[in-house]
Amino acid sequence: MITDKILAVIGGTGLEQMDGAEIVQRIRVKNTPFGAASSDIVEVSLDGRSILFLSRHGEDHSIPPHKINYRANLWALKEQGVEVVIGVAAVGGISSMVAPGQVVIPDQIVDYTWGREHTFFDGSESAAGAGVEHIDFSWPYCAELRGWLLRAANRAKVDALDVGVYAATQGPRLESVAEIRRLEQDGCDLVGMTGMPEAALAREIGLCYACCAVSANWAAGKSEGEITMEEINENLKEGMARVKALLAAL
Ligand code: HPA
Repeated sequence: MITDKILAVIGGTGLEQMDGAEIVQRIRVKNTPFGAASSDIVEVSLDGRSILFLSRHGEDHSIPPHKINYRANLWALKEQGVEVVIGVAAVGGISSMVAPGQVVIPDQIVDYTWGREHTFFDGSESAAGAGVEHIDFSWPYCAELRGWLLRAANRAKVDALDVGVYAATQGPRLESVAEIRRLEQDGCDLVGMTGMPEAALAREIGLCYACCAVSANWAAGKSEGEITMEEINENLKEGMARVKALLAAL
């Protein structure tokens, strides 16, 4: 049962801290066999339940998506005994259902990232094992955790989409209109910069992982005018309030 396991949240843009949660302890993660994690792991207590929290971009939001040490982040959590990980992520909405502020629990991924350390199994011996392994990734997210997230959303009266294809792009720039058109033709509903390799790495080391995405903006070409950081931050304020309600219900 997921509820008996140690749960971690990897917070993204707009969720650098879990306010409303009481800090129990701060666990310094100086180094892992794969390098430094993005932040300390903070144990928080939310409604009496302990959760470990790691800030994906660093607590001061200084690490861009392509420079995040995804391997170190997941390894650091695993070292703390974590078995279940929720990756909170800001995204752009491609399909009409993913309006700004919308919460989505995606069920599929297409990976467009490049040049990232994307596997624990690169042929050499490491803390994660030795040699070559090919994990099954047909369904990239943990079905049981997705179910828990969706039921929690329901209880918290948060409207959360129960399907969606996440396009993971390289960033840090946003996409061109033609790129979004291509992603749409590929069947993608939402676009973000951090979904991969995080999901695959979690699967490689046996973590039950799901994504809780929040739309920060319409993707390029889906609304008029430029996409501004003000707009993104404004929508995220509202969207992350919903995520916090969902997490509290969970
Ligand atoms: N594209 C990629 N990543 C994002 C976006 C976007 O439009 N909005 C928030 N993260």
